[in-house]
Amino acid sequence: MKSLIKKTLPKSALRMIINVRDKRGLDVVPKYSFDVSHLKKEENLDFEGIFSDQKIKDMWNIDQESIVMCLGKDGTSGGINPGDRRALYSLIAALKPQNVLEVGTHIGASTLYISSALKHAGENAKLTTVDILDVNAEDAPWKKLGLQMSPRDFASKLGCADSIEFKATPAQLYMQDTKNRFDFIFLDGDHSSQAVYKEVSMALKLLNPGGVILLHDYYPDAKPLFSNGVIIPGPFRALDRIARENAGLYAKPLGQLPWPTKLGGNVTSLAVVTKQA
Ligand SMILES: C[S@@+](CC[C@H](N)C(=O)[O-])C[C@H]1O[C@@H](n2cnc3c(N)ncnc32)[C@H](O)[C@@H]1O
Repeated sequence: MKSLIKKTLPKSALRMIINVRDKRGLDVVPKYSFDVSHLKKEENLDFEGIFSDQKIKDMWNIDQESIVMCLGKDGTSGGINPGDRRALYSLIAALKPQNVLEVGTHIGASTLYISSALKHAGENAKLTTVDILDVNAEDAPWKKLGLQMSPRDFASKLGCADSIEFKATPAQLYMQDTKNRFDFIFLDGDHSSQAVYKEVSMALKLLNPGGVILLHDYYPDAKPLFSNGVIIPGPFRALDRIARENAGLYAKPLGQLPWPTKLGGNVTSLAVVTKQA
C-alpha cells in the first residue's frame, strides 16, 4: 500500500504529507533538557582557518586517493556528498577528537572519512558508528548500491578497522545505555524532527568538555539548499524548537564550502550545534 501511494502521488504532495507528519511527530514530544555546559563555543571553531589549512589539505590529498578507490569519487554510490566528506575529514583532522560517535553508518562514506582523519589524531583515537541496520551484512545498503565491500571491509583495506566499533542498534538505545563519552558526535541517522530533538538532548549528555555536535541535512528555515528543490525539514525543525526552549543553544550552518558539494554548488547541509559566547 505504502509503495503504491509513493508511486501514484506527485512528489510535491508526498513531501507535504511527510512534512505535516514530521511536524505532528515533534509536537507530541514532551520538553527535554539540553545541558550545553560541555559544548564548544562558536568562537572556538574557526571553520575558515580549518578549511584553508595547508597541512590538512596535504593530508586530505593523500588519504583521499585511497578512499576513492573504495567509494568512488562522485558520491553516486550513496552516503554524504563528496564536499561534505572533505569538510568532515578536515574537521576531524583539525580538532583531533579522541572519541567520536557517528549516528547513521549506511554505506560507511562518512565512517571512512572520519576514521581516515582519526589516524592523524593519535593511536588511541577511535570511532563508534551506530546504525539501526547491520551495515556489514550481505543484504545491507553497500551491496544494494553496488559497492564491492562492506564498510568494515573497506575500513580494513584502509588500515583503520581496528579503531572503529560498528554497532547495529537504534541510536537512542545506544545513547541511553552507553558509558562512553565523546569529543565529537556526528548525527546523520533518523532525520525526523522528533528523533533529532531527542538525539541532540542525549548527545549533549555524552559530550566531553569542549565537545562538538555536527548535524547533517540541516536546511536553514526549512528551505531548499540544492537545485533539486529537496528539503529535509526534520533537523531544522528540531533545532528551531531547541533554540526556542534553550536560549544560547543553536545550530550554525557551515554554509558555502571552499569546494563543490553536489549538483554544481558549494553549499553544505552540515551545521554545528553550538552555544553563544
Ligand atoms: C543518510 S544515511 C547515513 C549516511 C552515512 N553517514 C554515509 O555517509 O554513508 C542514514 C542512516 O541512518 C540509519 N538510521 C535510521 N534511523 C536510525 C536510528 N533510529 N538509529 C540508528 N540509525 C538509524 C539508516 O539505516 C541509514 O543507514
